[in-house]
Amino acid sequence: MINSASRISHVEEYYFSKKLKEVDALNKNGKGIINLGIGSPDLPPHESVIEALNNAAQLTENHGYQSYRGLPELREAFANWYQKYFKVKLNPDSELLPLMGSKEGILHISMAYLEHGDEVLVPNPGYPAYSATAKLAGAEIRYYDLKEDENWQPDLNELAKTDLSKVKLMWVNYPHMPTGAKVDNELFKKLNTFAEQHNILICHDNPYSFILNEKPESILKNGPNDHVIELNSLSKSHNMAGWRIGVIAAKEHHINNILKFKSNMDSGMFKPIQLAAIEALNLSDDWYQQQNALYKERKEIAFKILNSLDCSYQSEQSGMFAWGKIPEHVTSVENFTDEILHHAQVFIVPGTVFGSNGSKYVRISLCADKEKLNKALERIIKFKQKK
Ligand SMILES: Cc1ncc(COP(=O)(O)O)c(C=O)c1O
Repeated sequence: MINSASRISHVEEYYFSKKLKEVDALNKNGKGIINLGIGSPDLPPHESVIEALNNAAQLTENHGYQSYRGLPELREAFANWYQKYFKVKLNPDSELLPLMGSKEGILHISMAYLEHGDEVLVPNPGYPAYSATAKLAGAEIRYYDLKEDENWQPDLNELAKTDLSKVKLMWVNYPHMPTGAKVDNELFKKLNTFAEQHNILICHDNPYSFILNEKPESILKNGPNDHVIELNSLSKSHNMAGWRIGVIAAKEHHINNILKFKSNMDSGMFKPIQLAAIEALNLSDDWYQQQNALYKERKEIAFKILNSLDCSYQSEQSGMFAWGKIPEHVTSVENFTDEILHHAQVFIVPGTVFGSNGSKYVRISLCADKEKLNKALERIIKFKQKK
């Protein structure tokens, strides 16, 4: 037997890839599970975006390898988008790097900056890729607590009391997944100061900036500096999760460091996808308004599902999930969600997937239409009545 590298012995198969196999098996047995698990938009991108892909795919010259830095026109479109919506000025030639989804950017940043002996501050709860990529890079993870009674924001004063000398990088993400905590510009300011004081690179992961969030915000508000990097993505904002389009915005030297890793991994993004991404970035404000109107209606139903499960929740939540606190008497959230899966045929996610501070919470995805959400609600009400 050939042993795998120790690098992968510390990372586990992604929760969803495991759990979705179980959901698939149940479906094969005719269970018809309603999947309210993953945050993959169920709606299509704007028709002009699909048309741009189709048209570009017809041309022979569009099928070759592409530049590692992406098309200049795509970087220009990202720069204009950042200027229009985030009021951030970025140099398209040097401060933007298109990605195949922001998830790959999380790995590239980790591989470009972390090594043995480095520590990484990772939010608990938070997106699992931050810790998985830190492990792959051989760094030590230091989870920092996010708590409901602190609006899911880090206590930077507490952190500053600890030894931060080995901390190289800190992950932050607002609007926050999974809790839906909103962006707070004061926090961004504090994070900038904290990063400078302790010589830490703050990586802000910003894929939910357009979802149920009145005003997109960026941690780069005062321009990129040595201590901040931002990731963004078209997966959620433009219903393009499967297309794999994201971006890193940062100072030129960071872009160049990240490119050293990335250019050894891939050979550029399919040109028709880049051209379609330009179309998406140039959509008018109506696009975002229409999407949010739908998500707003869906969130109301998701909150009804939380009510039917006797979960409590904050009504102001950004992003494409509803996050709720399970009843006091429930001791295991995983048993709680498994029971819902097997007895009500609805898949919702236990908060433990996102860290120990999620152990009293569940997450419901809004990536299902109203009909499905209402059906899920009906099934859960029925299941609760029978119990
Ligand atoms: C917080 C967070 N960051 C990053 C991603 C990855 O997004 P992308 O599709 O751009 O790779 C996700 C996807 O669910 C996410 O929830």
